[in-house]
Amino acid sequence: MTAPADWDPRALPRLDGRTVVVTGGNAGIGYFVSEQLASAGARVVIAARSAEKARLAIDSIRSRFPEAELAHVPLDLTSLASVRAASERIAEFRPLHALVNNAGRVVASRRRLETEDGFELTVGGNFLGHFALTTLLFPALAADGRVVGLGSDSTRMVRLEPTKLWSEHRYGAFRAYAYSKHAVTGFQLELARRLAAAGDTRRSLLAHPGWATSAYAARRPGITDRDPWRGRFFETLTGWVGQGKDRGAWPVVRAVADPDAANGSYFGPRWELAGRPVPTRPVASAASREFGAWLWGDAEVKTGIRFPL
Ligand SMILES: NC(=O)c1ccc[n+]([C@@H]2O[C@H](COP(=O)([O-])OP(=O)(O)OC[C@H]3O[C@@H](n4cnc5c(N)ncnc54)[C@H](OP(=O)(O)O)[C@@H]3O)[C@@H](O)[C@H]2O)c1
Repeated sequence: MTAPADWDPRALPRLDGRTVVVTGGNAGIGYFVSEQLASAGARVVIAARSAEKARLAIDSIRSRFPEAELAHVPLDLTSLASVRAASERIAEFRPLHALVNNAGRVVASRRRLETEDGFELTVGGNFLGHFALTTLLFPALAADGRVVGLGSDSTRMVRLEPTKLWSEHRYGAFRAYAYSKHAVTGFQLELARRLAAAGDTRRSLLAHPGWATSAYAARRPGITDRDPWRGRFFETLTGWVGQGKDRGAWPVVRAVADPDAANGSYFGPRWELAGRPVPTRPVASAASREFGAWLWGDAEVKTGIRFPL
């Protein structure tokens, strides 16, 4: 067994014969997660909105690893109809060995917007869309399969108030983003508790990338250089305290590929914003049993989909 701090993301175990789904695998951290897992032999299904960006991502990975097995399935997390359609297509790749719930609306709009189904857009996409996707794909997940959610340090900056999760009366862009990450954290940990209680061998884990930017990432033409100039300027200015998105992918890749990663584990960079992937801890409020149980019930009502656990 590797010591928790010594796991090397540049020396991955082989993943031949394993199938991994990466939401938002066509850009940012999700792209590098897909590239790194494909480099170790995993078949990667990129579930993403834009077919054009997915094609660029697939071409970029194949240019480095010609043998890579890659596919794109269209997915928009802000539409439950799209999530249902995508889950049917993704299930054709069963058994799935990992579902990486990476996609996220990171820079939320200044104005409160809603999903196709009428829920605040950031929490609706980042959390509820992934809740529905995970629920629908759960039967296709292998007995040793994993679900990995993307947490964030924003949960340490914004205090969780569950009754305000959906920003029905007051909305702030960063607050909505942080709430979406509280919800992702709460969901993954509640899933871990339910799997353990049911004696189910599948695992639920979390990872966060610290502060990860394209500006400081390894260059991938058409992928790391397509953010708008304002974003690139901001990243260049602030990104030196963090790391590139290629390294931001490491905690996620560890959650997928470390054979010793236990159900309920959370990985992040050693120096919080940057560094090698090591075990870390979630904020207590998002990790609480009360929040997890409430969130689960709320998500089942809002999606109309019952989780089979
Ligand atoms: N970067 C950081 O420092 C940081 C820190 C903490 C946590 N995170 C988390 O890491 C994850 C990836 O972040 P990133 O920095 O790589 O962001 P990014 O470069 O903006 O990429 C986000 C990805 O999510 C996809 N996406 C957004 N909304 C979607 C939707 N409704 N349906 C399907 N796909 C959607 C995007 O697809 P489109 O191209 O179609 O928009 C894109 O592929 C997010 O969950 C984020 O919260 C990032």
